[in-house]
Amino acid sequence: MIAESLAALYPAHLETLIARATVALERGGFDHLLVPSGTLHYQVFDDRDYPYAANPQFKHWVPLVRNPGSWLAFTPGERPKLVYLQPRDYWHVVPEAPSGYWAEHFDIAVIRKPDDALQHLPRNATRCAILGEPQSALGRYGAFAPNNPQPVLDYLEYHRAYKTPYEIAMMREATRRAVRGHRAAERLFRAGASEFGIHLAYCQAVGQDANELPYGNIVALDAHGAVLHYTELDRVPPKSVRSFLLDAGASHGGYAADITRTHAMDRGSEFQAFIDAVERAELELCGKVRAGMDYRQLHLDAHIALARVLEDFGFITCGAEEAVATGLSSSFFPHGIGHGLGLQVHDVAGFAASDAGGTIDKPQGHPYLRLTRELAPGMVVTIEPGLYFADMLLEDLKAGSNAGRVDWNRVEAFRSYGGVRIEDNVVCTDGEPVNLTREEFAAGSA
Ligand code: GLY
Ligand code: MN
Ligand code: MN
Repeated sequence: MIAESLAALYPAHLETLIARATVALERGGFDHLLVPSGTLHYQVFDDRDYPYAANPQFKHWVPLVRNPGSWLAFTPGERPKLVYLQPRDYWHVVPEAPSGYWAEHFDIAVIRKPDDALQHLPRNATRCAILGEPQSALGRYGAFAPNNPQPVLDYLEYHRAYKTPYEIAMMREATRRAVRGHRAAERLFRAGASEFGIHLAYCQAVGQDANELPYGNIVALDAHGAVLHYTELDRVPPKSVRSFLLDAGASHGGYAADITRTHAMDRGSEFQAFIDAVERAELELCGKVRAGMDYRQLHLDAHIALARVLEDFGFITCGAEEAVATGLSSSFFPHGIGHGLGLQVHDVAGFAASDAGGTIDKPQGHPYLRLTRELAPGMVVTIEPGLYFADMLLEDLKAGSNAGRVDWNRVEAFRSYGGVRIEDNVVCTDGEPVNLTREEFAAGSA
């Protein structure tokens, strides 16, 4: 079913990439686009390789994430070519011959050694825009070395924010997997498992291990939820567990899902009510993912909404506007409201002013916002408000001018819960936003 719909959507996706690549080459004054899939990297003084990560520019064209040493070659007016490395190697499982809904759209040359790619690339390397890592260089004196021309990159990365229907379908598939994992993880949490045990159950349910997931799972019990990127995975469960923050995604053909849920062990507790309040704010913010919306405004709106939650629960003793104006809200909501999502969990070009370069600055006092662009149809963004009781930030707060605006007894009572974050992946359209995450949870894909 999913393969059929991807097959139906892929030709239009490829047409879009061809059109974009054609303009990008004009902008840079090049005749050919070359994209190496990337290479293996080795640990220092060792023969162990790091997990391979495909060049995002490569997996944009073909859903291949396990094929180092391959190349995409495109010349306007010609069929795109895939130079596909299928080494003779009895040490490892060799990639299968290229097949699938995408393969018929390429001229494919299968090679057995990385250097053999040279026979299939355009003759004149100086006429090529080559997008990739330096280590992918091939040819005499590294003639085919990635040159990453800025006008070409600017154009392609800017437009990558606008997903094709094929890409949205890929992200739906990644979401389907991740939601399965989230359901399994919640079950394990309620059964009293350790963070490590929950992580393994998540991977099992998703069908992906740490190398395939789009980022390291954040599996945080109790106070660990206050560490924004907590990835320690304690082997032993706490004696009595109160809360669980899970920020975990999944991949499909190189596309990412990025989902966070927070749970209280006691569904009748005040912490559950606090989660519910953050979730209401989150849903309202998701509703604002609309064409023409400035994402910086959405971030500032999130500060007001979360400051209201802090006020309602008695953590702060001033009004929401004052909490935002004085920077107090940042002590509890210390990250951005979200980011673009796609081939990379933090998608590129979040600050791009145009497809010809330039930067849209972050609002002053908000250094961790990762997206400052105006939303437009096709963009997929995360909406991930959070409120945390983080030791370091609370120490600073106590020592600063906002200390008197805080009810410290209330804060103390919640510290052991860590924090709350709720994160959905939302598509901007011409009309109502499409919440990929909620749709999948609602579909009941247990
Ligand atoms: N999982 C990382 C993030 O939410 O940005
Ligand atoms: Mn996340
Ligand atoms: Mn995120």
